[in-house]
Amino acid sequence: MPSQKSPIRVAVTGAAGNIGYSLLFPIAAGQVFGADQPVILQLLEVPQGVQFLEGVKMELQDSAFGLVQDIICTSDLDVAFGDADAAFLVGSKPRGPGMERADLLSQNGQIFIGQGQAIDRSAKEGVKVLVVGNPCNTNCLIAAHQAKRTRRANYTAMTRLDQNRAMAQVALKAGVGVSQVSRLAIWGNHSPTMYPDFENAAVGGERLTRVITDEAWLKGDFIKTVQQRGKAIIEARGKSSAASAAWAAIDHMRDWHRPTPAGEWVSMAISSDGNPYGIPEGLIYSFPCVVDASGDYSIVGGVELSEFARGKALASAQELIEERDAIKDMLS
Ligand code: NAD
Ligand code: LMR
Repeated sequence: MPSQKSPIRVAVTGAAGNIGYSLLFPIAAGQVFGADQPVILQLLEVPQGVQFLEGVKMELQDSAFGLVQDIICTSDLDVAFGDADAAFLVGSKPRGPGMERADLLSQNGQIFIGQGQAIDRSAKEGVKVLVVGNPCNTNCLIAAHQAKRTRRANYTAMTRLDQNRAMAQVALKAGVGVSQVSRLAIWGNHSPTMYPDFENAAVGGERLTRVITDEAWLKGDFIKTVQQRGKAIIEARGKSSAASAAWAAIDHMRDWHRPTPAGEWVSMAISSDGNPYGIPEGLIYSFPCVVDASGDYSIVGGVELSEFARGKALASAQELIEERDAIKDMLS
């Protein structure tokens, strides 16, 4: 039976790229916004990418998704973001071997000025924005800076892939299923300075550090593996992670549209303004968050950070301050 709900408009940029290809089908299948939520897909590409996008549209049509009411392919920012309820900002260059994500800042940062302006002009006031394109925290800061009409708190960046990576490493080490791992939050930047907070995480409902007692591994190889996972994938695959990044984007947006189950946290890179942990303000920084029944997130309070954890959390903030300094012209 067709759904009674009105369709929501979902913008995806860089939709003909690698992540886009893995992201669009689960959105169309109802795995992000709900199995009864019709969607209108508004797909943005650079002009030379629109032809490829038409091919993706043909495949979406051929999948006969009952929830898809329309598929718009465009290189016009205001068409892509027009009345959008949710926006996945993926379109931008990925890094190659030997590069850090921050090396992309000057090339990709500019994209997020124009897109931020167009979102603020054309999207719904409460549009939920997820920046995936790297360096995603600072690109998100650039886009959010343009938010005058739209809700600035709704500009977020993706560290969920890092959370998922950390959960997978812990599950492997503990010899349990990944669903046994909870509250494993990422603090900071989506970069090699991020801090996966194992001290407050749980495995099978027990404190993680009681289940995994190998402190040298936790403070050493575990953190390093999570921090360097993107690079390791680029080295192994020859290109940057795509399917796992798409699934993390799905997790982020789905979990932003439903109350967080009791005992779980979700990592979201959000504005650091007013945070209760003394992280410098004016950054897009990843915190442990929970989402309420209205679809609003808040930072989890009362998380105890050891001296070790606090040092790592502040070091990542320092890196974000340096990234912000490097693009200060884009914030004027
Ligand atoms: P890709 O090169 O396969 O696809 C990017 C697409 O974006 C291309 O089709 C390109 O034409 C399009 N594009 C470029 N500039 C655009 C613009 N201004 N407007 C609209 N479209 C534009 O790259 P990908 O593998 O899909 O990765 C995309 C981005 O996601 C990269 O910056 C990558 O580093 C980042 N990424 C982030 C995470 C994360 O965890 N935050 C994980 C993986 C990848
Ligand atoms: C990742 O973490 O896989 C992405 O951010 C791609 C990259 O450049 O590492």
